[in-house]
Parts: sequence; structure tokens; C-alpha cells
Amino acid sequence: MIWCRSILPVVRQIKSRWISTGSRLTSGFSLSTDIPEIENFKGVNSYKDLHKFSITNPDEFWGTLGRSRIDWMKPFDKVSECDMHKGSFKWFLGGQLNVSVNCVDRHAAKTPDKVALIWEKDEPNETEKVTYKELLDLVCQVANCLRDNGVKKGDRVAIYMPVSPMAVAAMLGCARIGAIHSVVYAGFKPDSLAERIEDAGVETVLTTDQCVRGGEVIELKKNVDEAVAKSSTVKRVLVSKRTGAEVGKTPLDIDFDEAVAKASKWCEPEVMNSEDMLFMLYTSGSTGKPKGIVHSQAGYLLYTNLTQKFVFDYQEGDIFGCVADIGWITGHSYVVYGPLSNGATTVLFESKPRYPDPGRYWDMVERLKINQFYCAPTGIRSLLRSDNSFVQKYDLSSLRVLASVGEPIDHEAWEWYHTVVGGGKCDVVDSWWQTETGGIAIAPRPSGAGDKIVPAIAMRPFFGIQPAILGRDGKEDTSLGANGACCIKYPWPSIARTIYGDHERFLETYFNKYPGYYFSGDGVRLNQEGYYQLTGRMDDVMSISGIRQGSAEVEDVIDEHPDVSESAVVGIPHEIKGEEPFAYVITKQGVTGDIEQLKTDLQHKVRERIAGFAVPRQMFFADEDILPKTRSGKIMRRILRKIAVDEFEELGDTSTLAEPAVVEKLIQGRILMK
Ligand code: WTA
Repeated sequence: MIWCRSILPVVRQIKSRWISTGSRLTSGFSLSTDIPEIENFKGVNSYKDLHKFSITNPDEFWGTLGRSRIDWMKPFDKVSECDMHKGSFKWFLGGQLNVSVNCVDRHAAKTPDKVALIWEKDEPNETEKVTYKELLDLVCQVANCLRDNGVKKGDRVAIYMPVSPMAVAAMLGCARIGAIHSVVYAGFKPDSLAERIEDAGVETVLTTDQCVRGGEVIELKKNVDEAVAKSSTVKRVLVSKRTGAEVGKTPLDIDFDEAVAKASKWCEPEVMNSEDMLFMLYTSGSTGKPKGIVHSQAGYLLYTNLTQKFVFDYQEGDIFGCVADIGWITGHSYVVYGPLSNGATTVLFESKPRYPDPGRYWDMVERLKINQFYCAPTGIRSLLRSDNSFVQKYDLSSLRVLASVGEPIDHEAWEWYHTVVGGGKCDVVDSWWQTETGGIAIAPRPSGAGDKIVPAIAMRPFFGIQPAILGRDGKEDTSLGANGACCIKYPWPSIARTIYGDHERFLETYFNKYPGYYFSGDGVRLNQEGYYQLTGRMDDVMSISGIRQGSAEVEDVIDEHPDVSESAVVGIPHEIKGEEPFAYVITKQGVTGDIEQLKTDLQHKVRERIAGFAVPRQMFFADEDILPKTRSGKIMRRILRKIAVDEFEELGDTSTLAEPAVVEKLIQGRILMK
């Protein structure tokens, strides 16, 4: 047996030393002003009443809000037609609309000079503002440019661009002509991009010459060229300038900026049916290749519109600062569609939280007078290690709501966010949701003024959401203290419609395990006060810096190496990132070479094929198969996770292992690693 000596120390788990009594919601959700529609709902006098109404009369609730909050080209005839067993969801049937009109035209008509986008560029102190009128012009020009280049309704368009007004216009330009966008995070490598292009049959790719993040240049166009060379479907690549650097040209290239500048500033919006596809977005699953999660038009628009307004207490005139990248669902729902559908001013953050120093977010909050700030716990954790003066030297009095998403927020981060950033005056909103839910499903807001916020838990379901906790016996457990699978038992308008090209996988992943329920893949607990606390993934999906990464994908890359026979990757706690990957690698028999070199090669491969965040820093090597497997061959990752963090005493039941003796070998190997 050969073992690699790891140089890295075992990661210390953050021990919560904070005891907090929580806080009261500062600004309450005001029923009559914020939601005048309640006049139509009998007996509703409080948030609680309204939530109850929304789940007991879902069609009346959603139908009323759908009529008042969306501009329709043709009104809908029926509110919903859903079947959890078939994974079939139709909302606002018969209705016709255009999402870009709802996000731009209707505000450009009323408040043309209001700022729609504030682009906080990577370069510190460089911002650009775009008004609603200017955004309308740009969206129309992009839409015309796409049409002129042969893009039609229903075509899939890949957007591989940094967060920027042009990228937002690209998304909305697609929506305007009925093309389906697939935004691919600009940190992904060519192979990941190629895989997403191929899966969706993408003919058109929109990109920039390069992009910059934290002062570092990323060669986007070069990555696109590599990806396009590997795919068979791409017919054109539209390239916009970000840095202006000379980049290689191919016969498929079109100068995006030039084509847009020439295009007309009016583009007739396509008439879309409520259930036509709006976009697809790939997310990592527990097995196999990434899943192209599909969202449709009206339901997604309504749900993001309402959650942006009520979860964040967005009020007319507020500056909304969600720092997510548009490559993730948070960027789709709370940088673009939610805020713009409400006519908000939304911030596009292109940089990193520690660039040029750990005060970047707060400097931006002061300069832009941000009222709602939305980020991931990993960002908070990375900042709270620095001196508080990086926060306190800025005037943060504009802030009202501080929110987080992507993983459970720990008490230390919550408390720091609440006291140091918010000065104890802001509502801290831990929001739980997923690419598949389209919008926030569980969060402390909306709620009545004065209701309490319990630190570090997501707490309350949004209107129309009915969480259910399913036990091992497959039955719903409604008792206080219940712990189990986080499911939702009634469809809501922005539930994902399918996995692109694979409805069977959609059913298998979300609906077959607990028939009649949507299964999120997360665990949840109902605390003694009746609030929901998310406990993390139940499957083999890691959350690295708030980014979802399936273990299987990393294993696929490792397994391809000629010296590797098998591997298992698990997520282990990391102080800043939340989780990081740890790889167990079984080499082929007879491999006697340099294990340090093999480790470097594998890390390089993962970086090249997926992305830097997916690279396991720690790797455990063995030359015989000692992965703990059940008799049916399933790897028991629970055991691998414990061993990776030296919790040898807490391995739980190992009696179902095909060969229980492997556990001792794993422990010995782990001890030798250090
Ligand atoms: C995790 C991001 C606990 C969860 C919007 C979920 C969270 C996955 C929270 C979705 C939270 C997100 N508390 N866990 N507040 N928010 N998660 O699709 O495991 O990128 O299933 O969507 O992130 O990640 P996704």
C-alpha cells in the first residue's frame, strides 16, 4: 500500500461561540400598502393569514397577483395545472407576455431616466450607470442583432460573459425574441463550457474578449475557441470588448459591439406563451453530467418579482445590491429578473469581496448608497477574519436588509453581519432556495413588523410554499423537532419545469423518491418554535464557496487518469469556503510511480476540466480498493467524510459494509497522511 503524505493540516471546524438572542424585524411588511391585492382575500389581516390564504387558495392567490403584477399581451384563462407525480407544471395557461417588456419597457415608459443598472466594475471606483431608457435601447439593439444573425425563437444561446450591462442586455435580448439563454459562469473552463454547449445544441455563443476579476485577467474568448473546437453545433460567436485586448479570431466571430451599435433601437417583442422556455441554467447533480434546469416565462417572472419585493422589503427608490454572478441562479433572479421587473436600480458587481482590500463591499455600499445587500456566507466568513476597521470606516447607514444565500450561515458569520456590518439595525435574512425553485422559498421575511428573526436559520416559508419534512419511512413528520428530507408539497409558479432533454432524470431526481412531493436534496429540521432550519445536502453534492459542485463530476475527471482505478470525492468543512473537496484515490495495480506527481497531475486536470474551486487540496492514495462500499456497491461517503476530518470514533453503523475491515485500513492511512 502506498500513501501520500499530505502537507496540509486538518481543517478546524468553526465552533460556534456566539450566543445570540436574535433580533426583531426592523421594518415590517405592511400588508395594505405593499400588497393592496389583499382587499380581494377574505379574512386576511396579517402575514400569517396571508401565508395561510396562499396555501389554502393557491389559484386565487397566484391568479390575483399574476393579474396585477405582470403586464400581459393576452390574459391567462387558467391559473394552474400541475401534477407532482408527472413533474408537469403549467401556470397561467393561455396567457401571453414578454418578460423583457415586464422588466424594461414598462419602467422605461414611466421613469425613463431612472437608473436601472449600476455596474460596479472590477476596477475599484469605476462605475457605469444605465437608465431604463438606455437599457431598453440596448436590449432592443441586442435583440435585433441576434435576429439579424439568424437567432430565432426557441434557439438556445450561450452567454459566457462577465457581469456587465452587456450581459444583462444579452439575457433580456434573448427574452425579447424568445431565444432561450444558457448563461455559463465565466469562471468555467473550456470543457465545462463545451459540455453545456453540446447538451443544449447551442448555435450562438455570446462572449467578451477577456474578463477581469480581482485584477486577474481571464481569457474568455480563448476558452470559447477551445470549447467551440470541441463542439459540433456552434455557428457563430459574438464577441464584445471588455479589456480591448487583441484576441485570436476565427471565421465564426462577429464583432458584437459593432453589430449592436448598427442595430435599430426598437425591436418588436415576441409574443410568448406563459409556459414557453425562458432560460436554462446548468447545475451540478449528485450523479453524471450537469443538469440543464429549465425555467419558463410567467411563473418565474411573478415569483422572482414577489420575492425580491417582500423578502428584501424593496421599496421604490431603493438601490438593490445582490453581488452574485449572473452565471448562478441568484444572479438571474436577484440581479436581473426580480429587481428589474419591480423597476428597481440593481447593482452589477463584477469584482471580488477582497479586491483591492477586504473593504470592497462596504466601500461600494457607501458610494452607491445600497439599501439591500445580498451575498453568500463564504464571502462573509472571508471578511470577518480581517480587521473590523475595513467595515467601520465606511458609512453604511443606507443599509436596511442584509441577506445571505448559498449554504447554511453559521452563527459567527450571522452575528458579525448583524452587528459589525448592520450595526444591529438591519434585518439579517438567511434565504434558502435552489436553481430548481427559481426564487427564495424559505426566509425570515416577509413577516409582521416586530416579529423576531432567529439567528442563522431560514425560518419561514414564502407565500405559496408548503415545506414538508419526510422521514426515512417516507412519511411526513409534522412534529416539532422533526428532522428529515426537505420537500415541498404543493407546486409554486417558479418550480423548474424539466431538465433540458431529460424529463426522466427530472422525475428521478426530484419526484420519485417521495411520490407527490418535490424533494430538494437538502435536510431540514423543524425547531421547537416551529421554524425551519436547513441542515445541508443529503446527497453527494458539495457547496464550495456557495457554489454547487457534484462529487461525481470531480470523480469523473480523476478516474480518467490512466493510473487511477477508482476515486471518491467528499466535501469536508472549510473555514472560509464552507466546504472543500477531499479525494480518495485508488491507483491501478502495479502503479509505483511518484504519487506527489500524480497528485499534482490530478489537481491540474480538475482545474483545467472543471474550475479552480473544484480542485481537492487533500488527496488520499491507496493501491488496493479500500473504499467503503455497501453490498450493492454504493460507496458510503458518510464514512469517508468522517475519516477525512479525523472523526474516527463517530463512523456510525458500518455493519452494512461489504467488507468492514476496510475502515481500519482507511483510518491507518489517514493517520499516516499527516
Ligand atoms: C444550498 C442557490 C442552507 C442548499 C440559490 C441548496 C442553502 C443549494 C441555503 C442550492 C441556505 C442555498 N441555507 N443551504 N440559506 N441557500 N443552500 O442551486 O444545499 O446554486 O440545495 O442555488 O444551496 O444551490 P443553487
